[in-house]
Amino acid sequence: MDLLEKITALAKRRGFIYPGSEIYGGYQGFWDYGPLGVELKNNLKKEWWKSMVYLREDVVGLDAAIIMNPIVWEKSGHLKAFTDPLVECKKCHHRFKVDSVGDKCPECAGAFTEPKTFNLMTEVLLGTTEPKEKSYLRGEITQGVFVNFENVVSSSRVKIPFGIAQIGKAFRNEITPGNLTFRSREFEQMELEYFVPPKQDESKKTFEYWKKERMEWYKSLGINAKKLRFRDHEPEERAHYAKYATDLEYEAPFGWSELEGIHHRGDYDLDNHQLTYQDPETNEKYTPWVIETSGGVDRAALFFLIDAYHEDGERIVLKLNPKISPYKVAVFPLLANKPELVEKARAIYKILNTEYYCAWDHRGNIGKRYFAQDEIGTPWCVTVDFETLEDKKVTVRDRDTAKQERVAVDKLSNYFQNKLE
Ligand code: GAP
Repeated sequence: MDLLEKITALAKRRGFIYPGSEIYGGYQGFWDYGPLGVELKNNLKKEWWKSMVYLREDVVGLDAAIIMNPIVWEKSGHLKAFTDPLVECKKCHHRFKVDSVGDKCPECAGAFTEPKTFNLMTEVLLGTTEPKEKSYLRGEITQGVFVNFENVVSSSRVKIPFGIAQIGKAFRNEITPGNLTFRSREFEQMELEYFVPPKQDESKKTFEYWKKERMEWYKSLGINAKKLRFRDHEPEERAHYAKYATDLEYEAPFGWSELEGIHHRGDYDLDNHQLTYQDPETNEKYTPWVIETSGGVDRAALFFLIDAYHEDGERIVLKLNPKISPYKVAVFPLLANKPELVEKARAIYKILNTEYYCAWDHRGNIGKRYFAQDEIGTPWCVTVDFETLEDKKVTVRDRDTAKQERVAVDKLSNYFQNKLE
């Protein structure tokens, strides 16, 4: 089994990621997040929002609608230019992205047609009267920020340079979804649109600044720095809106792959929507330029899972940073059939669970419980044993070192709080 197969199996077995609509045979390009997957994703989004919005004075948040007036997509250039070139096999009629295949069809060795462009926008039909009104599920969450640019400027105290942060679902009619959630048709993005004056030097500096910030964010959550790199886009691969762009890539089991895009969008979008900015001090009117950082929540979750996966003989350990691990602490009674241990352990579990999400487990023996918690990345396990009843201390076992120490029950909260800082 290769690493991606192992991750896929673990994700399903332990409730991180399930194939979408699985009982009906699945649905290509759609995935569901289970009880642990939703925690991992929420923790990533929480950390991102904290670093992008709460810890900065120059960024505010937004949550725009998924479906917008179709004029938005006409103006943004997506209806014309949001395309992938694809070829069709003349024999079996399967379609492939040009850059994902060679000269012959990988399914039947048939010859390909000339490349054709294929629009990635997902159409939706709205209303009750015929013909129904055609609109689109957003292909990037970004346009919701641009169409609200004036609203944000007039309703909050932001002044250029400033940013608008947003997290939300995007949809693309991908020709070749695959590699688990890496390329899906429905996915989540976490994006910052940072508005600067239209000046080459300043915008270049801002671009470099955000590249560094985003790299640091991934590293701060424990991803292996050696598996991260930047790759500048060649002019021909740049999106229609980008002046220049770089991808932050991760070395996945299927090769170096885009985790996040950092784009210099210039005045492309605001100009298309005919939006301008007036400097409140100088009254100068201009169209700001935009530096964008656009990360995929699902790709981040996938790459953090891959990066955290370790095998130690039979034992599988997900060495997730505690800030993003689904559970922070698991609490057990040493023996499930001793009511005095269960009662004490339940009391500790209930208190800790008000501070962060904790797991409770009283099945099997202690070794099996450690094994199960290691596999889902729980950083610490707390065991209540007979000594606890005497000395009011519990055994805390560390996932990565397997070391154990005795900690006083009334110090547990602080103990974990310190570790989580
Ligand atoms: N607003 C700019 C934008 O959407 P992008 O490079 O097309 O830029 C940004 O997408 C990020 O969204 C990617 O780096 C990736 O993490 C994520 N993403 C894009 N397409 C995806 C797909 N089909 N499945 C999962 N994630 C995707």
